[in-house]
Parts: sequence; C-alpha cells; structure tokens
Amino acid sequence: MAERAKKPPRPWSHLGCIACDRVYPLTEIRYACDACGDLLEVRHDLDRLKGARGPAAWRALFAGRMSVAGVHRSGVWRYHELVLPDLPLDAIVTKPEGNTNLYRSAMLEEQSETAEVYIKHEGENPTLSFKDRGMTAGVSFARFLRVRAVACASTGDTSAALASYAAQVGGLRAVVVLPRDKVSVEQLSQPIASGCLTLSLPTDFDGCMRLLREVCGRLPLYLLNSVNPLRIEGQKSIGFEIVQQLAWQPPDWIVVPVGNAGNISAIGKGLFELATLGVIDRVPRLLGVQAAAADPLARAARRQFRERVRVAARDTSASAIRIGDPVSYDKAVAVVRRSGGDFESASEEEILDAKAQVDATGVYICPNSATAVAGFLKARAAGRIRKDERVVIVATAHGCKFSSTTIDYHRGRLAGVSSRLANRIVEIEADARAIERLLGEGDGKR
Ligand code: F0G
Repeated sequence: MAERAKKPPRPWSHLGCIACDRVYPLTEIRYACDACGDLLEVRHDLDRLKGARGPAAWRALFAGRMSVAGVHRSGVWRYHELVLPDLPLDAIVTKPEGNTNLYRSAMLEEQSETAEVYIKHEGENPTLSFKDRGMTAGVSFARFLRVRAVACASTGDTSAALASYAAQVGGLRAVVVLPRDKVSVEQLSQPIASGCLTLSLPTDFDGCMRLLREVCGRLPLYLLNSVNPLRIEGQKSIGFEIVQQLAWQPPDWIVVPVGNAGNISAIGKGLFELATLGVIDRVPRLLGVQAAAADPLARAARRQFRERVRVAARDTSASAIRIGDPVSYDKAVAVVRRSGGDFESASEEEILDAKAQVDATGVYICPNSATAVAGFLKARAAGRIRKDERVVIVATAHGCKFSSTTIDYHRGRLAGVSSRLANRIVEIEADARAIERLLGEGDGKR
C-alpha cells in the first residue's frame, strides 16, 4: 500500500485582526487586515498550549533552561513555545539577548515611600536596548521566510537592533529610515557600524514611518517595525522575565515608557497569555508613560479614551519616544485598560531629574527610561500607586546611548531644564598639588 503523504503539522499560531477577527496564516507577509485595514496580532492556540503542560510544568521548563547552552539560553527563546512555537529552533538568529538584571532600587523606595521598586534594565541587551527581543523574533522569521531585505523606520534603537541582527544573516540586506537630527549620535553610529543602508530624512519619525509603509507596499522589503506582529511576540518576553525573576509572583505595577506603543502592548499580551496558562495568578496593572512633548495616549487617558488623539510631537530629550501618532495605539489602549492601568506624562525637567537620580545609584539609564521613572513618581505621589505595592519600572535602553544628553545635563546646558541635580565636571590643572588641594588633603595630615 502506498504510504500516505505526511500531513504538515497543525500550526500553533495564526494572525488575527484586532478589529474584525479575520484570520490569516502566520507565514503570510502582511501588516494590516485586508478586510478592515486594522492591526494584526499573533494568536496562539492557548487551549492546546494549556493541554500541553500545566502551570508547574511550564515554570519548571523555563527554570531548567536558565543554565543550558544554545538557543534556549536566550531570554526570549527560553519561552519559545509561547513566543513563536512554529518557528524551528534552527532558524533562530540570536546573540543571545534578554536575561537582563532586575535591580531593586532602595533610592526610589525611600524617595517615593513605596514597599518595593525594581528597575528592569533592558539597556543590558546586546545592542543596548529592549529592541533586541523583538528583533531576534523578527529577523529569525525573516530568515525562515527567506526574505532578501528587511527595513524599519526608527527613532534609533530599532534601527540599531535591526542592523545588528541582519548582519548575522548572510545575504540579508538591511535598510533603516531615520528622522534627520532627531536620533542621538550613539544610536546613529550603530546601523552605520553594522554595514546597513542608513537613510536620513528631513522629517520626524511619524513621517519616516508613513513613507516606509508606502514603499513596503511596492517593493519586496520585509517591514520590521512593531506593526509587524511577529516582533511583538519576542517583545513579550520582558514581562515573562520579570515575573520569572520575581519567582512568579507578579508585581502590582509594571511601568513602561511609551512611544509607538508596541512594547507596552507586547508586555500586556504576554502576561495575559501567561495568566491564561495559569503560570501567574493575575496580571499587573500597566502604567504607560510618555514625554509631555509627545503624549497622545496620556491625553486620551485624561479624556477617558473617548477619542483617538494624535499630536504633532515636539522636541524632547526622550527622543526615542518622540512619536505623535503611535502605530500600536489601539492595542496599547486595550491592554492597559484591561489590566486596570493608566497612562501618564512627564515634563523635560521631571524626566531629566529622574534620570540623574537613577544614574547616581549606578544604574545608568536613558531619558526614555527616565520618563517611566518620572511617571512612576507622579502616579505614586497622586496615590494611584499605593505605598504597599510592588512596582517594576522598565528601563528600555542604556544611558550610554544618550551620553551627550547626560553630559549636557550635568554641564547645565540643556535649554529649559534647571539641572538641579548636576554633578559638575571639575576642570583643573594637570598638577598633583591642585588635585590634593581640591580633595582637601594637601595639608599633610594623611
Ligand atoms: N524606549 C526606548 C529606548 C525606545 O527606543 C523606544 C522606541 C521606546 C522606549 C518606546 O517603545 O515604541 O514600543 O512604545 N523606539 C522605537 C525605535 C520607536 O524606532 O527605536 P514603543
């Protein structure tokens, strides 16, 4: 008897429209729903995943992978079954990423009189931002689909991650589109260094995004912005790692800086999935924080989300979140509201003072991350976050990506900012006595 043709394995995941629920195969390259034009998300067969393992077995699986070599060591691919179960392990492009530290902040606990405050430092990823988590998923999927070229618009960090991961794949072309003079010099150096075609346009991020989406509709370029739902799946692992690091006891709040709103959507999506599987018993409230210069979601929250708000983004030291029309707006609103959370905004002064305070504890963060810290302090002062609660603030990139801003703050050279916490650089002669005099030790008493 002739052997029956082997049936392809039933996929674990597909794409679904967040508005009209129309579904598409995961391997179809698309960034919007054909029927209604809205955003797509990856939907996993959660019933099947639930049937595959119980909560304790999931926790044991993830714990066991902490010490293994290979792909599963990554802080993203440790959760492979919940990220992209249909993606074969041998297609994965990893550095590895994730496994970032969760720092307890005694300073923030004291200052805000809050029981427990942690900083999850995503700046400790290989390209110094959280974007590596989404990019390992996106570039791996690009390789799996055998696409020839990948592209993104970026305020800096996505382009750094895309360029660096694409450089690991032979024959994969990478293109990034950046708003001219609105990206830090350190960020700009990263895609150039990785050999990526780096386009600088005289517009803002929202303009870059619009143009690139148009081009991707006409050329065979695989778009790796967070409008690509595959990226969101890798990004979810920030939330997974946070709860695993806290021995699966979810914090009361997770505070996230928000720009294009992909990250907060991802963290929320992942945690709701983890709760469905019984791995955690509740989902933390999400607080999304924007710079006051680019705060459509915080404005919408103040109006109870009655209408979609778009703003023309103004200049801010938190340039990575200088976005007036976030692509993942609807996803973020839905997940933040479902979590019982909120949105907040912070002024330039609040952002840069918060940065100086956290930096001075030896945890060096960027202004975008500091926006979340400032938002936390405001929400705590207003009593929205309570004294007895446990809070995790996500620092999304490393301070070294914004060293000019740091130095300008400490030199008191940032317009409109008082630099009240400046640690001034002391310029003295190249002379031992001068140093001794300065240190008050030149009187021979040592
Ligand atoms: N923090 C940093 C350091 C970022 O680079 C970004 C976004 C965010 C926060 C906000 O995350 O967009 O998911 O809400 N940077 C994107 C980029 C836009 O192009 O690098 P989001």
